[in-house]
Amino acid sequence: MIEFINVSKVYRKKGNVVHALKDIYLTIPKGKIFGLIGYSGAGKSTLLRTINLLETPTSGKVIVNGQDVTTFNQSALRKHRLNVGMIFQQFNLIHSKTVAENIAFSLKAAGIKEKDYQGRIDELLALVGLTERKNNYPKELSGGQKQRVGIARALANNPDILLCDEATSALDPETTKSILDLIQNINRQLGITVVVITHEMDVIKEICDEVAVMDHGEIVELGDVFTIFSNPKSSLTKHFVNEIYHLELPEKYINLQEPNKEIITVKFIGDKAETAFVNNLYKQFNCDISIIQGRIEYIQNQPLGMLTFSVSGTNEERQRIYEYIQASEGIEVA
Ligand SMILES: Nc1ncnc2c1ncn2[C@@H]1O[C@H](COP(=O)(O)OP(=O)(O)OP(=O)(O)O)[C@@H](O)[C@H]1O
Ligand SMILES: [Mg+2]
Repeated sequence: MIEFINVSKVYRKKGNVVHALKDIYLTIPKGKIFGLIGYSGAGKSTLLRTINLLETPTSGKVIVNGQDVTTFNQSALRKHRLNVGMIFQQFNLIHSKTVAENIAFSLKAAGIKEKDYQGRIDELLALVGLTERKNNYPKELSGGQKQRVGIARALANNPDILLCDEATSALDPETTKSILDLIQNINRQLGITVVVITHEMDVIKEICDEVAVMDHGEIVELGDVFTIFSNPKSSLTKHFVNEIYHLELPEKYINLQEPNKEIITVKFIGDKAETAFVNNLYKQFNCDISIIQGRIEYIQNQPLGMLTFSVSGTNEERQRIYEYIQASEGIEVA
């Protein structure tokens, strides 16, 4: 478990003061994949980097496995850092070293002798699917392969925690998916707690259990991923959630001004949402319905959908339709 208690970070440079983190309270449960999302400058990297003390908080405590890491002396800190692997957007590999030597770098840092770590390198290469690339140099690898080396290096010393700072932001969607799958497998197989920074809600949707939304050094929303997606509260979270639906109505519908016709968007939340909704609406009210836009996503294996349609009828008829929607389980007006 990782716990932030009243953590603040202030950067001061040449009279310039930046409050990068403001009184953060947050608990990241053990064994979960936890997402941090927010715009550039929100404080995501700063918060992540307090976990392995690449950034020292100005005030507050960062408790990892029951110990406040901000109080560690050099030797305790060195040991702690071996227990926290990290991967980066730009991979941070050593260009003059082969794949195997890059991984060996982490093992040597832990004081392991060369004769003892060869087997471990092979194990790690098999885990990330790079056995064939052992003696290649980073420049001979694709972006996805470089990140696999980054992951192998981060896991070399069997850490409890893996920190991922925009680990897939430099990759195409296909490669992103394969790296996210690998991170999820590692989390499930090895039980490692994973903290993922991203600015893409798709990444959160794909692999995270819980998510915190950050803005200007603060956590503005926090919860399990399905709850956040199905019921976002803050305008920033709503903005991120809408990204995954790609629902932007054409101008003519946004400003629809036809008498006795209106546009309604409904949300379908979870398994209970009635799938024959449109059919039933039509049967019950015999109204004119035209579907304009719709999408169903599966988040943590639960369906979450959005449907926009136009409906014709008198004011009273349309009022009854709203009442019908309100009475339907798992369905609400968006
Ligand atoms: N070493 C530093 N010195 C001064 N200011 C810094 C330093 N590191 C970060 N900051 C500032 O702290 C704030 C938070 O930065 P941080 O890198 O944590 O944001 P972020 O959410 O990770 O952004 P991005 O998505 O662009 O990576 C920003 O205003 C940034 O300019
Ligand atoms: Mg960052």
